[in-house]
Amino acid sequence: MATASKLRTVIVTGGAGYIGSHVVYCLVKTRQYKVISIDNGHNSFPEALARVSQLAREEQASETKPADLSEEDWLETNNIVIKDGDITEKEVVRALFEEQGGKGKVWGVIHIAAWKAVGESTEIPLTYYHNNASATIQLLQTMNEYDCKRFVYSSSATVYGIPPKVPIPETSPLGALSPYGKTKVMCEMIVEDLCTAQPEWKALSLRYFNPAGAHPSGRFGEDPKGTPLNLLPILGQMAVGRLPPTLNVMGNDYPTADGTCVRDYLHVMDLASGHVLALNKLVEDHSDIFPDKKKQYKQYNLGTGKGESVLEIVEAMRKATGFDYKLEIGPRRAGDVPALIADPALAQKELGFHTTKNLVEMCHDLWNWQSQNPNGFEGSA
Ligand SMILES: NC(=O)c1ccc[n+]([C@@H]2O[C@H](COP(=O)([O-])OP(=O)(O)OC[C@H]3O[C@@H](n4cnc5c(N)ncnc54)[C@H](O)[C@@H]3O)[C@@H](O)[C@H]2O)c1
Repeated sequence: MATASKLRTVIVTGGAGYIGSHVVYCLVKTRQYKVISIDNGHNSFPEALARVSQLAREEQASETKPADLSEEDWLETNNIVIKDGDITEKEVVRALFEEQGGKGKVWGVIHIAAWKAVGESTEIPLTYYHNNASATIQLLQTMNEYDCKRFVYSSSATVYGIPPKVPIPETSPLGALSPYGKTKVMCEMIVEDLCTAQPEWKALSLRYFNPAGAHPSGRFGEDPKGTPLNLLPILGQMAVGRLPPTLNVMGNDYPTADGTCVRDYLHVMDLASGHVLALNKLVEDHSDIFPDKKKQYKQYNLGTGKGESVLEIVEAMRKATGFDYKLEIGPRRAGDVPALIADPALAQKELGFHTTKNLVEMCHDLWNWQSQNPNGFEGSA
């Protein structure tokens, strides 16, 4: 007779995307979770999770099965359930819970899926509010319906808008400038209100700074559809000839050491590991971070606490790739702030979150991924 599974079932929305695929990998590697990903492919390729699952399977050969885990569970951790579905459709999300056996069967949700292009969000705000905010409300309603009340939310440093001081603590006032950023603020507030109204809920919002790099194997990494909007994937694609070699530096007259914008870049594997730490805090015995059991909700910055300028990033990528980037200095981009750097002290103290990889490793791993996969996932098996 099969023994009851000890694995906790976790749904990851947006699991096939850049951050999602690395989070799924880290969850699988704990060998404590059964992972279900739902992603509609808006900005991702199914190949990403196929590779995550393949790598986890290969690596298992040199891992030791924990004594308390059954053979079935041990193998089950590699069986990522990969669903192609849109989380704005309530029935699609309900079906996920039903397939796991209904009420009380899904342990928690990591909600990563969102649209994230700041500029685009100013052009089609309703689409952003629908996909990011309405979908989150609906997801939380469905979770309530299925008695699933542990939630980790992908928020962003963009919630801080123009911060009055840098490094930015979590207590900094929220002032998102774009519709995209406002969806993040709104969702944080919605989750907080839910936790206030229903004390049995436990939720954490993770405010990511600038994730970069790729899994060190080079088998999965960032591969957005269309032209990338972030600096590091742009530089990666330039170096493989997918984009023209000239970078438009948007402003060099900011009050920073070299005049270009400074951001807090953290390795995507460090960021992904932060999600495992966050989930661990939602386990009954470890929820020491919630002194007030009447509202079990908190936000954490996930960053390094250090900043690098655009020119420093270009130089680091030049060293990693050997590519001769051309620079064109243009005007400032509306809404850009000189420096966004996390104060990561709270996440360090309460979650045990520490970044382990530096900028050189980030650029190395990004290049390892990009050079092995010049066209990303497209065209692969
Ligand atoms: N990458 C960053 O710099 C950054 C920084 C701060 C916060 N974030 C947040 O982190 C999360 C993940 O970002 P990412 O960089 O991995 O982006 P991504 O686009 O690679 O991942 C998002 C995933 O969600 C999926 N998705 C979007 N709408 C969906 C829907 N309605 N139904 C199902 N799937 C849907 C997309 O297909 C994609 O795979 C987002 O919430 C983003 O706002 C990202």
